[in-house]
Order: sequence, then C-alpha cells, then structure tokens
Amino acid sequence: MINILRSFLEFLSAGFYALVFSCVYLMTTVSCAQSVTKVSEKSEVSTPLISFEVVGDSVPNPLGGRVGVAQRGEKIIQTRDGQCTLCHAIPGFKGQVGNLGPLLEGVGTRLTSGQIRLRIINSSLLNTQTIMPSYYKVQGLENVDPKWRGIPLMNEQQIEDVVTYLVSLKETQK
Ligand code: HEC
Repeated sequence: MINILRSFLEFLSAGFYALVFSCVYLMTTVSCAQSVTKVSEKSEVSTPLISFEVVGDSVPNPLGGRVGVAQRGEKIIQTRDGQCTLCHAIPGFKGQVGNLGPLLEGVGTRLTSGQIRLRIINSSLLNTQTIMPSYYKVQGLENVDPKWRGIPLMNEQQIEDVVTYLVSLKETQK
C-alpha cells in the first residue's frame, strides 16, 4: 500500500516538474523570438549611412572624417572570412587566394585614396556588372538576411582603415 502511495506521489511530482519545465521553455522561446524581431526592426531603420560626395571616379573625403589606421586595415583584409582574399592576392597573405580581382600589390601607386575609397564603398558605381561586393551600401541588395538589413558590410571606420592600408601598398622599384 505504501509503495503504491509512494509511486503515485512520484508520478505527481514528475508531472509538476514537467509542467514547470515546459512553462520556462515556452517563456524563453517567446521572449527570444520577440527580441529577434526587435533587433531586425531596429537595424532596418537605425543605421543611416553617412552621405559622401562622388567626384569623377573617386570619393575624395574620408567617411565621416574618420582617420584610418593602416595596421587595422591590414588585419581586416587578411582575416575577414570570405572577403577580399576570395578575389584578390594581397602582399603577405599566406592562405589560399582567388584571382577574380586584380592584385592589390602596388594599388597605392596606381590609384589615389579617393579612387580606392569609391571602389570599396560601391564598385558598381563604376562597373554595374562588377562581382565585387559593395561594402558601404544597404539599398538595392538582394537576399539579405533580415537581421543584417540596413547594416553595411563594413562601417565607416573599417572602410577608412582599409583605404589607409591600401594606399600604403606602393609599387616597389625593381
Ligand atoms: C567577389 C570578388 C571580390 C571581392 C570579395 C573583393 N573584390 Fe575587389 N575587385 C574585384 C574585381 C573583379 C575588381 C576589378 C574591377 C571590377 O571588376 O569592378 C576589383 C577591384 C578592386 C580594387 C581596384 C583595384 C585596381 O587595381 O583597380 C580595389 C582597391 C579592391 N577591389 C579592393 C577590395 C577590397 C579591399 C576587398 C575586401 C574588403 C575586395 N576588393 C573584395 C573583385 C572582388
């Protein structure tokens, strides 16, 4: 008799725990889902890009007046997964590189900082068919995950860091 009573009580308490567990589970999933929608709603409206002036084939002024740091730019280029080195060979980069884009060695001699800036901001302004991603653009893109909508691939500071690094890649005299 006592045994029956005990297993009945165990059965009851297991049910109680299951109930508590499913409540907690439900509460967290619902609130998580809510916070995800909040983030994506926010990112669509809250990150306006800084406006910039295009002169010929260049953007002469640093975005937002930021001052680039070459070392940081080098790091961005060398480490950013699946980005520049997918298409460009870069001096000092040891990993596998693609050759869809021109070598970036000596680019600081071939192009001015403004010309480099425009090509990173939005290469399609020069070549509508380009395969190079626009790193500072949020409109007119396709298949963007809702949580990244309104957020450019690089922010103003990252663009300036990369520009400063590329400007430092001068043609070496042979
Ligand atoms: C999917 C391939 C691809 C990726 C990724 C890419 N580029 Fe390019 N890039 C190109 C191509 C192709 C060109 C040649 C011009 C054109 O077709 O628009 C180019 C041109 C350039 C130029 C002008 C070079 C010159 O000598 O005229 C610069 C500078 C440049 N890319 C920098 C970068 C940087 C920095 C990154 C990463 C932040 C990057 N690219 C990522 C494909 C790519």
